[in-house]
Amino acid sequence: MSFTGKRYDFRNQAGDYAQLAEELVGLLEGEKDFVANAANTSALIFDALPDLNWVGFYFLKQGELVVGPFQGKPACVRIALGKGVCGTAAVERKTIIVPDVDAFPGHIACDGASRSEIVVPLVKAQTLLGVLDLDSPRLARFNEGDARGLERLASVFLEGVRPEDIA
Ligand code: SME
Repeated sequence: MSFTGKRYDFRNQAGDYAQLAEELVGLLEGEKDFVANAANTSALIFDALPDLNWVGFYFLKQGELVVGPFQGKPACVRIALGKGVCGTAAVERKTIIVPDVDAFPGHIACDGASRSEIVVPLVKAQTLLGVLDLDSPRLARFNEGDARGLERLASVFLEGVRPEDIA
């Protein structure tokens, strides 16, 4: 298995996300370890998508979001539901695109380089398990195509997750 990065230019955004989803299926296939799969999912996304400075998971533990495997600078560990972009996406259970983090009330700054952000909620069988968070140093880096593509990647990751993995 070899991952060389920059395999996609995203000019065909939907097609490239579909291929990336297939790569993720292959990467997670046959492995049940939750941390290993979360780590490799964040690494694959960080490696493949241009203009990112942070990609990772926050998982819902005892009513709070707690940082999980990620790529990027060290991040704030705990986020309350309803706080920041992550806590808002978790409560609303919908993907939030923030074109300019400075214009999002309550945005939690972890890496000062972040200018825009997208957060995808992780919901399996009506249960909120956490969020997938991506930050970019570029303003307005994420669009609706990214939202749909990342939701697909999140659902591939969730296929192998059992709620008891997150405790
Ligand atoms: N910006 C996020 C916090 C997490 S870091 O970006 C990794 C937020 O406002 O929820």
